Amino acid sequence: MDDVILEAQHLKKVFISGKKSMTAVDDVSFELRQGECLGIVGESGSGKSTIVKMITHLQSITEGNVILKGKDITNVKGKELREVYKDIQMVFQMPMESFDPRRTLGDGIGESLRNMGLSRKETRERVEKLLERCGLDKEYADRYPHQVSGGQCQRAAIARALAVEPSVLICDEATSALDVTVQKQILKLLMELKQKENFSFLLICHDLALVQAFCDRVLVLYHGETVESGTPDEIINHPKMDYTKKLIDSVL
Ligand SMILES: Nc1ncnc2c1ncn2[C@@H]1O[C@H](COP(=O)(O)OP(=O)(O)O)[C@@H](O)[C@H]1O
Ligand SMILES: [Mg+2]
Repeated sequence: MDDVILEAQHLKKVFISGKKSMTAVDDVSFELRQGECLGIVGESGSGKSTIVKMITHLQSITEGNVILKGKDITNVKGKELREVYKDIQMVFQMPMESFDPRRTLGDGIGESLRNMGLSRKETRERVEKLLERCGLDKEYADRYPHQVSGGQCQRAAIARALAVEPSVLICDEATSALDVTVQKQILKLLMELKQKENFSFLLICHDLALVQAFCDRVLVLYHGETVESGTPDEIINHPKMDYTKKLIDSVL
């Protein structure tokens, strides 16, 4: 279909250490369409982050392909990979660790803009706008990561991800490390951004309840394999697998 932005085709990841090999992701396929939010849920260790890392080239792909806007990006490198990062951006679980502690948040958020050739002044203006879009006062541009809370840092991480105006935003357990009230605020922000902006979301999380509120479709992952997929309503109200029922029971 022509409105498919990102496609994972039969992704497989085998980790080898010494004589042992371990299949972390086994034949996972999905399509993410324009403006859609796709959730990937599964217990810890089920292979969620490995899928994200393969899509974003943080880890090699054992088998399978990744297609972005109709182009096979499985083996891109260098300049072509940098182009991919203009389309796919990520927000991770530990916001503090994703910023350089010696540089201000504003520097971190503006880095990609500077690399694209924007002047210092233009970059600053864009950074301030991005911060405000993410619910932070513009003076946060001058703060260092250790001078803000976890939730504020995650807002800055979202601002940084949005700086390049990506087509796809991947959030890998982006709220898991935050306390419950802050978690809700960040989700509210993501929800607002989803409504306002034109990007597609891949929302990785172990909490099915959260996915219910947020996603158009869900994949359930178990030991690296897709065991169910459907709308949140189908998954939660008519789960086919005992595993999914357990996932529901553990969070609802
Ligand atoms: N770099 C690695 N080397 C070896 N095994 C790994 C590596 N990264 C992840 N794994 C293993 O792959 C499996 C899936 O991990 P991961 O994708 O992080 O799961 P999740 O994000 O769902 O918690 C786990 O068993 C994990 O121990
Ligand atoms: Mg993970």
